[in-house]
Amino acid sequence: MANILTALQPSGVLHIGNYFGAIEPFVKLQDDGNTNFLFIVDYHAITVPQDPKQLRQNILFAAATYLAAGVDPNKTLLFQQSRVSAHTELAWILNCLTHMGELERMTQFKDKTRNKGESVTVGLFDYPVLMAADILLYDTNIVPVGEDQKQHVELARDIAERFNNRFGETFVIPKPHIRKEGARVMALDDPTSKMSKSAASDKNFLSLMDDEKTVEKKIKAAMTDAEGTIVNRPGRLGVSNLMTIYELVSGKTMAQIEAAFEGKGYAQFKQDLIEQINQFLQPLQQRIHDSLKDHKNLIEILEAGAQKAQAIAEKKMQQVREAIGVKLS
Ligand code: ADP
Ligand code: TRP
Repeated sequence: MANILTALQPSGVLHIGNYFGAIEPFVKLQDDGNTNFLFIVDYHAITVPQDPKQLRQNILFAAATYLAAGVDPNKTLLFQQSRVSAHTELAWILNCLTHMGELERMTQFKDKTRNKGESVTVGLFDYPVLMAADILLYDTNIVPVGEDQKQHVELARDIAERFNNRFGETFVIPKPHIRKEGARVMALDDPTSKMSKSAASDKNFLSLMDDEKTVEKKIKAAMTDAEGTIVNRPGRLGVSNLMTIYELVSGKTMAQIEAAFEGKGYAQFKQDLIEQINQFLQPLQQRIHDSLKDHKNLIEILEAGAQKAQAIAEKKMQQVREAIGVKLS
């Protein structure tokens, strides 16, 4: 029996990196024996400017996507982070245990703030502490995330250990669960960096909502190399990344893919890949549309999840308030 927890930002676009790096591993870990938490981190999202109307839509879209991907509200507490105020309350307390230097070392913060100068918000700097609060509130054992979030989960572990040492055993020490294959889907137009929705070009990523024509355009433009063979080898970043995507959407193994395309060129491989991607995306998109249509049901699911999460989080907060000495009776 384990508590399994992960969260995603409601950023409008979800790409196949998010799907295979975060959503699918979570769905696979949903099991009757475990307690599962999945939430939409709207308070993480506002660390960068958001249009309120768009944000609202993005939250609903995120919820619809998780349900379409197989998240089962009977097995998983699906909710909005902002509906459980203990997250921000605990973040404040953990702020007072976290060192500036620890946050300055976070590579995601460094990446997100490069060349941004004075306009970087305190919220963006503090982002990993809110994430630590997200995790520690629920006695989380396992945090399924992509490779890029490992450092944040390790920080949550350090903060939890520090708290426990100073105030007594209060928090469970969480472990990151990084999916091995396909943990990092790389950008289509630059296979040296990870696929990301915040990239400058939309040729960088495959959105879960891309239509058939867009998929075709993006894959045809995707970077390969001059070798011309379909072989997964270190150094052949572009081709290996496309083969990884093939593997993920089709369920075939790398060896099967290499065998199927032996002696064949990029044109044929890409054509086949486009078909495989569309066969994967079409039914998923249909389920997302269906779920978004039933707006009321979607909100009811999120609200029921929030109620249950609040009860668990408040219990933990009572323990925390007592441990640090602010609880008087
Ligand atoms: P993005 O970089 O597109 O803004 P996020 O930082 O919102 O993505 O990440 C959301 C989740 O998806 C995280 O768990 C992250 O590890 C995972 N993820 C993001 N990009 C990738 C990728 N290219 N490959 C695998 N997993 C990814
Ligand atoms: N920072 C994570 C991301 O960008 C999202 C996140 C917030 C998260 N809180 C979390 C992930 C708690 C796992 C557990 O992907």
